[in-house]
Amino acid sequence: MDTWQRRMLVGACAAILTMTATAAARTQDADKGEVEFLLNCAGCHGADGKDTGPLGAKLDNKPTDLTLLAKHNHGTFDAGAIYQKIDGRNPAQKPP
Ligand code: HEC
Repeated sequence: MDTWQRRMLVGACAAILTMTATAAARTQDADKGEVEFLLNCAGCHGADGKDTGPLGAKLDNKPTDLTLLAKHNHGTFDAGAIYQKIDGRNPAQKPP
């Protein structure tokens, strides 16, 4: 194996390692988010986010189907607007 081939091989191995590490980190983040959601939100919004939680069923003002957020916003998921609704800077509208 000449020097050029060796460099290509080392480069390819480094790229594969980087991709694997990134994918593992993303999976962990998604797992953390899922746990947070199940602990704090699923009671009302349901484990699948479609407002089927046992607490949500008891509320007069029904929780929103979170799987339709982007669809209701002209096909775009607006993370900033969602944060503002959750932390109360922009309260959700009561139905008429
Ligand atoms: C006590 C029950 C309850 C819990 C717990 C809860 N929600 Fe909600 N959520 C609601 C209700 C009810 C609404 C609808 C409010 C309205 O329309 O006035 C809502 C609305 C929302 C909206 C606004 C959707 C829209 O149409 O703009 C988002 C986003 C949301 N919830 C996310 C969350 C997240 C994320 C969590 C967990 C961190 C959470 N909720 C926990 C009851 C709950």
